[in-house]
Amino acid sequence: MSKPKKLFIKTYGCQMNVYDSERMAEALGGQGYVETQCADDADMILLNTCHIREKAAEKVYSELGRFKGLKAEKPDLKIGVAGCVAQAEGEEIMRRQPLVDLVVGPQSYHRLPEMEAKTRQGGKALNTDFPEEDKFEQLKKRPKAKRGPTAFLTVQEGCDKFCAFCVVPYTRGAEVSRPVDRILSEARDLVERGVREITLLGQNVNAYHGAGPAGDMTLAQLIWQLDKIDGLERIRFTTSHPNDMNDDLIEAHGTCDKLMPYLHLPVQSGSDRILKRMNRSHTAESYLRLIERIRAARPDILMSGDFIVGFPEESEADFQATLDLVEEVKYGYAYSFKYSTRPGTPAAERPQVDPAEADDRLQRLQALITRDQRSVQDSMVGREVKVLFEKPGRLPGQMGGKSDYLHAVHVDDADVEIGDLRRVRIVDSAANSLRGVLA
Ligand code: 5AD
Ligand code: SF4
Repeated sequence: MSKPKKLFIKTYGCQMNVYDSERMAEALGGQGYVETQCADDADMILLNTCHIREKAAEKVYSELGRFKGLKAEKPDLKIGVAGCVAQAEGEEIMRRQPLVDLVVGPQSYHRLPEMEAKTRQGGKALNTDFPEEDKFEQLKKRPKAKRGPTAFLTVQEGCDKFCAFCVVPYTRGAEVSRPVDRILSEARDLVERGVREITLLGQNVNAYHGAGPAGDMTLAQLIWQLDKIDGLERIRFTTSHPNDMNDDLIEAHGTCDKLMPYLHLPVQSGSDRILKRMNRSHTAESYLRLIERIRAARPDILMSGDFIVGFPEESEADFQATLDLVEEVKYGYAYSFKYSTRPGTPAAERPQVDPAEADDRLQRLQALITRDQRSVQDSMVGREVKVLFEKPGRLPGQMGGKSDYLHAVHVDDADVEIGDLRRVRIVDSAANSLRGVLA
């Protein structure tokens, strides 16, 4: 038998890229590749890129430039670019960086084996199509290796919302939902391999409408199907759009025990004027009323969100409205970004905010968010929470995992195994994690 070839994948950006990288590694496993954590050993290097913010393409080119020496030493080394930068730049990547052998967009990953074979014959391989066939069906079925207790599972991909700042509808394409039976069989397979928590992924996951045995199913209906899988203990989903937060999904947060009390629901801005320019099709008020309804169904739910500051034409008053909204929601987690122009998106054409002003706003928003995050986390002290243990902690004897609310929790000298789901009493709150004792 020939020696396995080594594959090094570097993943940037969102959780869907993490999921996609796993699928690509599995697909190339069929070509005799095993994964390595070290680029220097690799026979193939794949960069799975993200295009959502700031100079993404430039970062990829500079990263690629660093492989020059390695490729000179190892002429057989193949270098590939996948992900949203691959989709957006396409052939341009090979023109600008001749080291690159392979460019593959997110909808063509099932073509990787044949593309890899082409590069082995000395050719270049490019595929940025949006094909008709189901890439996930063609990617699956590799050795049933044991897995850690948590996993991602893509159920929906692409987006039809066209927020004025966002590249996703262009790089990931139109919104598509995977059929229910395929998701259920993938979930059962994960559980057989040791997974106890599944996070359902989609750029617009709550717009899910996959084909079921009797017509299309909503995300809530899919969650209820997953709820029946023995051994699956926790279900999460991300990312949601406020306008797709249906009644049945809100209700499931109150009634489905396996559905975790955590919801990532980006609002982007608290100003209606800016939300309109962002093409968000909801208002600050409608968002706040929605959260009221969600909290009525599940009072302890931890809310999380995304914000963009310095969107074109954002005034100080608009920004103040964002601060007001944050004060009102009290997020347990929130992610805030300075607006960055994405070529080809409508907002790129609008008058830009002074970058120093945008920096200042970002700092002010982050200070407020950090305060709330800390106070939500501190409020866990004295409470008993469930923790799914995922890995040893930094100190000897320590074990770490996540609470239902997604807080990192560690326990000293705990007699627990990876994959155990145990009740823990929280005794202390530090900057980024909680400390507890087994209850
Ligand atoms: N500039 C800054 N932030 C952006 N996001 C998306 N596009 C941009 C952009 N052009 C943020 C949004 C989104 C998150 C994933 O990234 O807040 O919810
Ligand atoms: Fe981008 Fe999300 Fe808006 Fe879709 S809903 S365009 S993915 S920000």
